[in-house]
Amino acid sequence: MKKQNTPDALSTVTAEAQVSATENLDSAWNGVVGRRAFLKGVGMTGAAALIPTALTTTGAMAARKAALTDGDVAILQFLAAAELIETDLWQQYNELGGVDGGNASYQAALSNLDGDMPQYIADNTDDEMSHAAFLNAYLESMGAEQVNLDAFRTLPSSKATGAQQIGRLTNLQKLNVDTSWYTRYRSTQNSDLGATFPQAITIKNEPAIPLNDTETPPGTSQPVPPDSTAASRMQAIANTAGFHFAYIEQGGASLYTSLSLKVSSLEVLRIVVSIGGVEVDHFGLWHDKCGNAVAQPLAGVTDPKTGLTFPDLNAPPFGGEQFQTNLILPEPASFIRKNLPPVSVIRPSLTENAGAVATIESFTADLLFEGQTPQFFRTVMALARAADAAERQVH
Ligand SMILES: [Fe+2]
Ligand SMILES: [Fe+2]
Repeated sequence: MKKQNTPDALSTVTAEAQVSATENLDSAWNGVVGRRAFLKGVGMTGAAALIPTALTTTGAMAARKAALTDGDVAILQFLAAAELIETDLWQQYNELGGVDGGNASYQAALSNLDGDMPQYIADNTDDEMSHAAFLNAYLESMGAEQVNLDAFRTLPSSKATGAQQIGRLTNLQKLNVDTSWYTRYRSTQNSDLGATFPQAITIKNEPAIPLNDTETPPGTSQPVPPDSTAASRMQAIANTAGFHFAYIEQGGASLYTSLSLKVSSLEVLRIVVSIGGVEVDHFGLWHDKCGNAVAQPLAGVTDPKTGLTFPDLNAPPFGGEQFQTNLILPEPASFIRKNLPPVSVIRPSLTENAGAVATIESFTADLLFEGQTPQFFRTVMALARAADAAERQVH
């Protein structure tokens, strides 16, 4: 049976009130299972992040909403949450290292990876803001609740020159950056068919933005190779950011691919594949740029504080198909079944490896949410589980 959403007439902001309003609606719309089933899926903490739309829906809006399944709403809501998370982290990078950013030393260290890095950071930030704003606007236009994570903007900002002193959703100050995507995309194997991949570099407890002006004064020059303790620290931070950019965006590429397979509406599918294509574009761009941190002439930087070294991945014991830095296009890999020929594809794309829950779990292991409240985790995981549970309904 095709699920229909109940009409959207919630006017409350608290989870409790929302659930109670929903129950009233449910009794008024006896036999329509969508809303209650959806709320059960996200739980009360998940519901707290959803913004009710207008008290009354127009006839046209109600008609459009009827075209969206609960699954499509859950997919769009999780993607809106993911894009708010992306926007939050990219804004932190942009304030410090974007083309109009406020930390000259960080900009210079990023520019050692590529002179266009500050411009690309600003553009990537704009893209994420547009993704979040569009998804929420589309949800509202269809009579469904938008997603708002403002209550969770509680994490501290960097104290370095350039950073606004505002609450953040994400933490870029001590990351465990998973770099297995680097060896995955150079491999002919596929994690969806059981393969596992080693880290290209082990990045543990490393900041991706400057933390303060004491260890990294914003006026420090950033020659290649770095010529001071402060310059080495800042270069290691910028190199970490380079790998983190690619890590985030490859995650987006897999996430959108995974969720596209669960979409019912052709219009929602158009949205998911069209935004997903830009995540792939971002990934390819950052994959290229971060390779410059581990190629000559920049390779060899060591963080004086953590000991993290960025080796030359083109030289022994590295190099070859698995490490060569300019092999940035996806190597043809096994896909669907091992007896089919290898093909160059985005991978993974199975729910367990690339879906919404897998994405939040990966971001959590990245320490991107370090310091967040249990309620934050319950909320985003509830949205993630609802999105992963969506099923494609063709009629
Ligand atoms: Fe995005
Ligand atoms: Fe993105």
